[in-house]
Amino acid sequence: MDLEVTIREIRRETSEIRSFILEPRPGETLPPFRPGAHIDVCPVPGFIRQYSLAGDPADGSHYLIGVKREQNGRGGSSAMHSQLQEGGTLKISRPKNNFALRDTGGRSILLAGGIGVTPLLSMAQALASERLSFDFHYFARSNGELAFRDLITTSGWSRQVAYHFGLVPPLLNDVLDEILRSPGPDDVIYLCGPGPFMDVVGAVAEQAGWPADAVILEHFSADPPKLTPGADEFVIRLAKRSIELVVPPDKAIIEVLREAGIEIQTSCEQGVCGTCVTPVLEGEPEHNDMFLSDEERTSGHLFTPCVSRAKSKLLVLDI
Ligand code: FES
Repeated sequence: MDLEVTIREIRRETSEIRSFILEPRPGETLPPFRPGAHIDVCPVPGFIRQYSLAGDPADGSHYLIGVKREQNGRGGSSAMHSQLQEGGTLKISRPKNNFALRDTGGRSILLAGGIGVTPLLSMAQALASERLSFDFHYFARSNGELAFRDLITTSGWSRQVAYHFGLVPPLLNDVLDEILRSPGPDDVIYLCGPGPFMDVVGAVAEQAGWPADAVILEHFSADPPKLTPGADEFVIRLAKRSIELVVPPDKAIIEVLREAGIEIQTSCEQGVCGTCVTPVLEGEPEHNDMFLSDEERTSGHLFTPCVSRAKSKLLVLDI
């Protein structure tokens, strides 16, 4: 974590979502960010989580993030909600971006599900300031579950936002059908939300004729790898150390490495951020991440040891 910021304000957005306004410490400045960027946040030692920057990329005075308390999470969002106070400090990374806007010249359709609205807010602010055409559809469970309402309603682009409450399939599919019909050749969908929501959007977009590369996704986390006890044991050989380690079915490669005293840099540990990407010299990785491109996966030369495993009995890593 290379930055320390002051928590200027914590706002209750909904019963489950808090927003945090983070400002530089006196005499310091914040690195600029591009729409769709996120930061790593360390609320308490041992927890690192990624949160999208929801504020205006043109406003360098502060960062704005939104955090939903995940009831079944691993403790990071609870720590954000319960351990942080206004006026306190927070360690964060510089902004990173896996979800950048594309300059296609076409229409942008921003589709947000719940807390997935955060990166799309920075995109909307950037598109509006460049006077580029976009439509923003914000899906939430109910009116009361709408985070960042004030930010949207006081913006100059509030009329471009359509709200959809409490929709589930098949009604959700019908509404998406309407929104996504007739894609233009340069149009792009930017999508962020819970996995099931994104799956429905992906299916409707495909049916409506959107090419796969025109649907740009931001994932919160990859699905956990499916482990079959007794069937998934394999060996990793660390070429630079001449060490071989057995990876049992119930352990991630990074856990096995840690137990052997070998640390590789990680951040999300959910296959999303790319921090742990490691070169593969031999063997066939089983990719469980959401970070690598299709070409990188097919090449087999890189993988993410936080969530990925091996299809072959031996994987030789360049570490
Ligand atoms: S630590 Fe984020 S992808 Fe592995």
